Amino acid sequence: MELIATSIKGLDEEIGGGIPKGSIILLSGTPGTYKSSVAYSMLYNAAITKNTMGIFLLLEQSMKSLLSQQERMERPMDERVQKNMIVSDVGRIRAAAEKFSTENDWMHALRSYVEYLVEKRKAELLVIDSLPVLEILSEEKNRRKFLFELFEWLRGLGTTTIMISEKKSLDMDYGEEEFLADGVFQLTLSPVGEVDLQRRIRCIKLRGMDHNTSMFALDHKNGSFRVGPAI
Ligand SMILES: Nc1ncnc2c1ncn2[C@@H]1O[C@H](COP(=O)(O)OP(=O)(O)OP(=O)(O)O)[C@@H](O)[C@H]1O
Ligand SMILES: [Mg+2]
Repeated sequence: MELIATSIKGLDEEIGGGIPKGSIILLSGTPGTYKSSVAYSMLYNAAITKNTMGIFLLLEQSMKSLLSQQERMERPMDERVQKNMIVSDVGRIRAAAEKFSTENDWMHALRSYVEYLVEKRKAELLVIDSLPVLEILSEEKNRRKFLFELFEWLRGLGTTTIMISEKKSLDMDYGEEEFLADGVFQLTLSPVGEVDLQRRIRCIKLRGMDHNTSMFALDHKNGSFRVGPAI
């Protein structure tokens, strides 16, 4: 089984080596817990070390704000990366999608655009940031229908997909997407003592892998994420 590195130092060993290629992974967390940065880092790492082409669909924020933060986090979009990474925000997706779809249907246009990139540019990794925003843009009133169709399409697409989802609190009920996904990683900001918060990550599900479910502290230094023991 081919495995994709998470790019988080120390985490791959804890999940059995990496994420099985072709999996649909949910990266869920509360606000500001590095959801976008972790997904970006994974694509960035694959682009640089393996020449793997990735697509980052940015539905929540502008490209400028994501790219400038990633640059400050020492992941600059240089020529080497540009070759293997397509970052598209809503404006770009709309503009590109017009070329691929004559129907005035956002999901149809987005699917056609992504299918084009997978076929023509051989994209193997896909990030959707985020699932709740995609759901809004889809205008599908029936949540179950939206999710089933989305997962069915992603399985047919064959990419390894990271879908970012939000959780106001980890005590919230699990959604349908958590059952449909092949893997679920949770990101949290947990209180440490009276004054501190620690960023943490854990893998609560990863089909096909004998993974650790413990919480790990998540740190970012010199352009890389790493896990360590949670305090
Ligand atoms: N240069 C930097 N180095 C390290 N951490 C940073 C840097 N700049 C910002 N941050 C931290 O990154 C956090 C945001 O990261 P990111 O956008 O990946 O999180 P997110 O979970 O996707 O957030 P959101 O809920 O807004 O989508 C900020 O809250 C801030 O604490
Ligand atoms: Mg984000």
